[in-house]
Amino acid sequence: MKLIGPFSQILTLRHLPLRGALADDQLEVIENGGIIVRDGIIDNIGSYTELLRNHQGDQEVIQEPSVLLPGWIDSHTHICFAGSRSKDYAMRIAGKSYLEIAKAGGGIWDSVQQTRNASRDELSEGIVQRVIKHQENGVTTCEIKSGYGLNTDKELKMLEAIRNADQKVAADLISTCLAAHMRPKDFDGHNQAYLEYLLKELLPKVKAKNLSQRVDIFIEESAFSPYEAETYLLQSKKIGFDITIHGDQFSTGGSAVAVNVGAMSVDHLEASSEPEIQMLSKADIVCTALPGASIGLGCPFTPARRLLDGGACVSIASDWNPGSAPMGDLLTQAVIISTFEKLSTAEVFAGITYRAAAALGLNDRGILQPGKLADMIAFPTVDYREILYHQGQLKPSTVWKRGSQIKEI
Ligand code: NIG
Ligand code: FE
Repeated sequence: MKLIGPFSQILTLRHLPLRGALADDQLEVIENGGIIVRDGIIDNIGSYTELLRNHQGDQEVIQEPSVLLPGWIDSHTHICFAGSRSKDYAMRIAGKSYLEIAKAGGGIWDSVQQTRNASRDELSEGIVQRVIKHQENGVTTCEIKSGYGLNTDKELKMLEAIRNADQKVAADLISTCLAAHMRPKDFDGHNQAYLEYLLKELLPKVKAKNLSQRVDIFIEESAFSPYEAETYLLQSKKIGFDITIHGDQFSTGGSAVAVNVGAMSVDHLEASSEPEIQMLSKADIVCTALPGASIGLGCPFTPARRLLDGGACVSIASDWNPGSAPMGDLLTQAVIISTFEKLSTAEVFAGITYRAAAALGLNDRGILQPGKLADMIAFPTVDYREILYHQGQLKPSTVWKRGSQIKEI
């Protein structure tokens, strides 16, 4: 049992609703707080002086004035990849279209070829390096998708690389099978045949090897139609997978499928308009904004303000990937969407903690409360508002995973 503190402020993020708008005065702020951790789990939280009075065990004394929060949760990334798409990026910022970039050999298919050519260990090492950067920025749980393999062997290789990396880093890595990212150019058949192939050949192996519990699909004109996706997802659900969806990024249709199939989250939503917003606000689903993709593509942001005002559960994730979102800085991106969408500090923090946990179906983390994981970050400041004010440049001084300091920092 260990007492950690004192902290100038502890933001617990507890006692807040899962859905809807949040005001900053709803945040619980414990001034001069402390936290007791036992076996990686929060045992008690409150006034440091009070906790110290009754405490018998070890102490981890925090010398620098700090604000403590739950560790960030990034619920949507594609950080299992090889190579770079800097050529795409240069063309895109210079105004080239999606089609022109694809014709020049860019796009998702380029990453598929580079990733197929990499060994499992090379992929795993790439993930480890990216997760270490994420940990330095305060991320203690990170979802990672496959989706640059696009055949049975190469998708399994990606999911195995994610599992190997998970054993090497402190953060928890949650894998998702995104074999339905696009139909690979070397597949002999139509979309439906490719999805049937995945259902028959790949997903049973993913289940048997316990490589992932989640299935994702990209619903878009350039990828899979809502109709094709719905059949695939209902079958995937039957095999026992949880569902998440790339939907409404450039055109609508994906969010309705997500609601129909009972997906845990629907991510992107940049193209969602009033009917979709109304539907999502009432549905039992997490809506994930991906500002990194909006910044990377020069596209509108997810209408997070309207979704929250409608009563939706909105999380914010990085979408870190080699194509549309190469930055991979969750906090900076969350700050940027907040200035454009007019989000409160409470809404931003909720979006990258407990609401992101809900997107992954995890109820053991994302808030600081007895019984939850002691995944925590301390920022070197006395006022929590400084964190967003510095727009991602104020970095955590300490990050704990299950109560232990992450040493890579
Ligand atoms: O979430 N939208 C589809 N997939 C990714 C992009 C992947 C890529 O360009 O490599 C996304 O933005
Ligand atoms: Fe994505």
